[in-house]
Amino acid sequence: MRPRFPALPEGLAYGGDYNPEQWPREVQEEDVRLMREAGVNLVSLGIFSWVLMEPAPGAYEFGWLDEIVDRLYRNGIHVDMGTPTAAPPAWFTRRYPSSIPVTRTGMRIGTGARQTACPSSPEYREATAAIARALGEHYRGHPGVVMWHVHNEYGAPLGECYCDTSVAAFREWLRRKYRDLSALNEAWGTTFWGQRYGDWEEIDAPRASHTAVNPAQRLDFARFTSDEHLACFRIQRDVLRELTPDLPITTNFMVTNCAAMDYWRWAAEVDVIANDHYLEAERPDNHIDLAMSADLSRSLGGGRPWMLMEHSVGAVNWQPRNLAKRPGEMRRNSLAHVARGSDSVLFFQWRASRFGAEKFHSAMVPHAGTDSQVWRDVVALGKDLRRIAEVRGSRVEAEVAIVWDWQSAWALELEWRPSVDLVFRERMDAYYEALWREHVTVDFVHPTADLSGYRLVVAPSLYLLTEAGAKNLHRYVESGGHLFVSYFSGIVDENDTIHAGPHPGALREVLGLTVEEFHPLRAGETVGLPGGDRGRIWSERVRLAGAEAVLCFADGPDAGHPAFTCHRLGTGRAWYLATAPGNLRPLLARALDAAGVDRPRGLPETLEYVRRGGHLFLINHADGPVTVPGVTGVDLLTGTACRGEAAVPPGGVAVVRLAGPDGPGRA
Ligand code: GLA
Repeated sequence: MRPRFPALPEGLAYGGDYNPEQWPREVQEEDVRLMREAGVNLVSLGIFSWVLMEPAPGAYEFGWLDEIVDRLYRNGIHVDMGTPTAAPPAWFTRRYPSSIPVTRTGMRIGTGARQTACPSSPEYREATAAIARALGEHYRGHPGVVMWHVHNEYGAPLGECYCDTSVAAFREWLRRKYRDLSALNEAWGTTFWGQRYGDWEEIDAPRASHTAVNPAQRLDFARFTSDEHLACFRIQRDVLRELTPDLPITTNFMVTNCAAMDYWRWAAEVDVIANDHYLEAERPDNHIDLAMSADLSRSLGGGRPWMLMEHSVGAVNWQPRNLAKRPGEMRRNSLAHVARGSDSVLFFQWRASRFGAEKFHSAMVPHAGTDSQVWRDVVALGKDLRRIAEVRGSRVEAEVAIVWDWQSAWALELEWRPSVDLVFRERMDAYYEALWREHVTVDFVHPTADLSGYRLVVAPSLYLLTEAGAKNLHRYVESGGHLFVSYFSGIVDENDTIHAGPHPGALREVLGLTVEEFHPLRAGETVGLPGGDRGRIWSERVRLAGAEAVLCFADGPDAGHPAFTCHRLGTGRAWYLATAPGNLRPLLARALDAAGVDRPRGLPETLEYVRRGGHLFLINHADGPVTVPGVTGVDLLTGTACRGEAAVPPGGVAVVRLAGPDGPGRA
C-alpha cells in the first residue's frame, strides 16, 4: 500500500509554500519562531530552487537547504520537498535551446519566467530525473522530509507545445494509438476537406491556421499534451519511489483552473490528490466555486482525504483587480476545504516576497508584519485547525454525483459549434450552484465510473460521450438510478464524430427522445417556460420517444414542444432539460425528490452545510446569524454544546461533533 498522507504526528497539515532562499538567515530564524506561533507543521520547500540546488550542470549544492530543513525539523515543522523542475536554470536553457516551448501561434516563448521547458524535450526529461535523483538520495531517511511535491502545476501556464520535438513526439503518440495510418484517417475523418494522410511524417501539430483545424486532430493533441506532462511526472515519481518508498508523492493540480490536463488520468498516478485553488476575486459567491474545486479534488481521489496545497491568505497578484479577503473570509475558505475532505490547509505562501513577479501576492506573513489582522487571522486559524483535528481521515459522503469529463470539455470548446454560448463551465457552474444552494453535497464522476452508490447523477455538459460511457449511464438508470441531463449532451464520440442518427445519439435511448433541430438563441434572447421562468442560450425541437413532457416551451422557436422531460426506464428515471432556465432549482428539486435525496430543508441558501464523517460543518456566508435546527453535539470551534440546534454567527463557522448514531463513531 502506498502512503496516502504525509506522516505528521497529529492533526491537520497547516502551512504553505516557503521560499527562505529569498531571505537572510535572521529572517529565516524569525520564520521558524513565527511558524511555531501559528501552529504551522508542514511547509513546501525548493519548488523553484533548481539553480540553487544545481548551480552548474551536475554540481549539486544542498548545504543551504540542509540548514533550513534541519532548523525546521528541530522546531517540529515537517517538509513537503519540492522538485524544482518548473523552473529550469538559465544554464539549462542556454545549453538546450531546443527545449524552449513554442505556442500554437508559433511564438517561441521568452525565458525570464518559469515553466520554460517543453515537456517532450528528452534533455529536459533527463535533467529532471537527475535532479529528482540527487534530491531523493540526499534527503532519503531525513525524518523532517515527509513527502514529495513534484514540479509545480503541470499544464499551466505551459500546456500545449508546438516545437519540433513536440511534433515528433505527437507522431509517435499517434503511431502508438492508431498503429496504422488508415485507422487515424478514419478516426480523424480526413476525407473531409481532403486531409487524408499517406505518411506519418505528413502529420503536424494542429497549429493555428486561418480557419478551423480538424477537430479530431485537436482533440488528440489535447490528449497527447496531458499525457506528455503526465509522462514527465512519472519519470520523477518513479525515481523518488525507488529511493523513498515510504514517502507519499504528489503534484499540485488545479482541478477547476487548468483545462489542459485530464485529471482523471492523473489521479491514479499520485499517492494523494493535492489541489491549488484561488478565488476569482470579483465573482459573486466565489465560495461556491471553491466548494466545487474541493468536491472535485475529493472525487479524484475516490473520496479519500486530499490536500489543499495552495490557496491565498488574501489578495492574489494576477487578476485584473486583486481584492483582499474580507473579514472572516480566509477562515471560511479554509474550513470549507476541510469540510469537503481536505486534511490540510496550506497557502501560497509563507512570507510575502520583496522582489520578483509576485511581490503583491498576499502571504501568511504580510509586508505589514505581525502587527496586522492577516497575521492575527493566521494564528487564529492555526488554533481552529487544532480544535477540529479529529476530523482528519474522515470521509464526506454524497448521494448525488455530477459527471465531469475534461475530454468532453476540450471537444465542446473547439471551433464552430452551434453557439459560442455552449461553454462547459457555464453549465457546470449553474448546476453545481443550484445543488449547493439546495444544501446537497456532490461528488464528481467520470462517465464510466461506478454510479451504483448515487441516488441521482447529473450531466450538465456531456457533449462528447463514448459508447462505454453511454452504456454505463443506461445501465445505471435501468437498474434504478436517476439521471438528469442538460442539452447538447451525448452528441459526439471520442473522435468528435456525431453518433449516427438523430441527436443525442449516445443518450437517445436512455432519455427516450430525439432532437430534430437545434435552435440556439441570440445573445440576450430568452424563451418562455411555464410559471414565468425564461430559458437562455438554447432551445431545440425535442420529439418524445418514450419520455413524457413535464414542461413545454411557452414561446420561441419550439413553443408547445417539450422543454423538460422524464423517461421511466427499468426501475430508474432519466430527466432531460432542453434549455438554460433562469432558475434551475425547482426543476432539480423535482429530480432530487423523485430520487429520494436526503437534504436539510428551510435553511438560508447562503449557508454551506456539509457532513464530513461524524461532523457537521456549517459555514455562514451571509451577514446575519443562522440557527440550524436538528443539530445535537458540540461545536468544536467554540466548545459550545448544541442541544437540538446550532447557532452560526454572521460570517462565522461551526464544526459540530454530532452526538449519538450520527457522531464520529459512524465514520
Ligand atoms: C500558483 C503557483 C504559485 C503561485 C500562486 C500565486 O498556484 O503554484 O507558485 O504563483 O499561483 O497565486
